[in-house]
Formats: sequence, structure tokens, C-alpha cells
Amino acid sequence: MATPAIDPKAVAGRAAADLIPDGAVVGLGTGSTVHFVLLRIAERMRGEGLRILGVPTSLDTERKARELSIPLTTLDDIESIDVTVDGADEIDSRFDMTKGGGGALLREKVVASITKRQIAVVSANKLVERLGTTFPLPVEVVPFARGVVRRALLQLGAEATLRVRDGVAVRTDNGNEILDARFPDGIPDTSAMERAIDRIPGVVESGLFVGLAHVLVIGHPDGRVEV
Ligand code: A5P
Repeated sequence: MATPAIDPKAVAGRAAADLIPDGAVVGLGTGSTVHFVLLRIAERMRGEGLRILGVPTSLDTERKARELSIPLTTLDDIESIDVTVDGADEIDSRFDMTKGGGGALLREKVVASITKRQIAVVSANKLVERLGTTFPLPVEVVPFARGVVRRALLQLGAEATLRVRDGVAVRTDNGNEILDARFPDGIPDTSAMERAIDRIPGVVESGLFVGLAHVLVIGHPDGRVEV
């Protein structure tokens, strides 16, 4: 009988959820890897009585957490977050990341900004030497300004395309649009690029996460997990 294939996102997600301490306020990231984090949190709640208060980074995660009976709170009611577990589209050796493949970058970055211990959880194929080489950089923009931002990104060296699904511009949970910016040689100086993009009027947030992650959990296709 064939052995079932191991999903590196699943093993990483479960291992990352095991790092969450009892009683913590927990930022709940977004995406297919975080899906396994949520399942494992619910399992720990049932099995060992784990108590947490979650802060979801997207409407999708909020819905999934509610379905799993994970108690939730909002940023109006807390000042800081003990630990956040979130995925990434790319991560480099300094733990800088590109995020926003799922469009949740703004809420993810707000949550990361008040998090004491940010755990990035990825499958091994997300590890890169230079950001922007395997995945375009998502930039959340106010729809009115998309043309202005697209031209400004071109000045910074990136060809940006509006994210579209079924012929319609994708709207984020915040009612904005996403430009996916492709840098032909990747992004050599991530801090400088983050600042430059943030300065463009009409940009709400970029998917560059610089200096925000503290712990990296990597799932490998053979089932190994590195922390
Ligand atoms: C959501 O907008 C993203 O930042 C995700 O964290 C990122 O795209 C990773 O997603 P997957 O875990 O689905 O690969």
C-alpha cells in the first residue's frame, strides 16, 4: 500500500501551534499553512484544555476560528499580542518576508507590529536567498490611486499588475485592491524598499515584512520540522 504523501505545511503548522503557551493572546495568521495551525489549536483546546484568545488577521481566518470554537478578541480590547503564528510567501535568512499572497497583508502587519513573539511557519520551498525572486510583492492600494502607485512602482524597478479574479479586481477585507509588483532581480535592500513603497501616496501597505519575525518553523517534504 502506498504511504500517504506528507504535507510540509501540515507538519509545520502543527509544530508551530505546539509552541503556543497556555493563556496567551494569539495572533492568528492567514493562509493554507495557518489552516493547520488552527486545526491543531482546536485539537489542543479539546485534548489538553489549552486556553487562548485569538486575534484573526482576516475574515477567512475569523470564520475558520469561529467554526473551530476558538475564542476571539479584537484590537480594540487588547494592547499587545503574546505570540502570532503566520505564514509567508517567501522568507530569507534574516527572517524578512514577502506576504500577502492571500491578500491579508495589512491586517497581518498590524497584528505583527504589536506582537511580542512572531512565529513564521512555512514549507521549505518558501526559503529564498533574496526576496522578490520567486513571488511578486503584493502592495495594497486605495483603488483611486492604483495608476499613480503603479507608475511609482515602475520608477522603483517593478512592473505591477492589478490582482484580478474572474475578471474582477480583487478587493481585500479592507475594501482596497492589490498590485502585484515583479522586480526582475528581486529586492536587494528590503528596508529601503519598504520605506520607499510606504512613501507613495495611495499605498496602504506593502507585503514586505522586515525585522518582524522572531522564530521560523520550516516543514520539509520528508516530514522533518526545523525550528
Ligand atoms: C496571506 O495574505 C499571506 O500573507 C499568507 O500568509 C501567505 O500568502 C502564505 O500563505 P500559504 O500558507 O497559503 O502559503
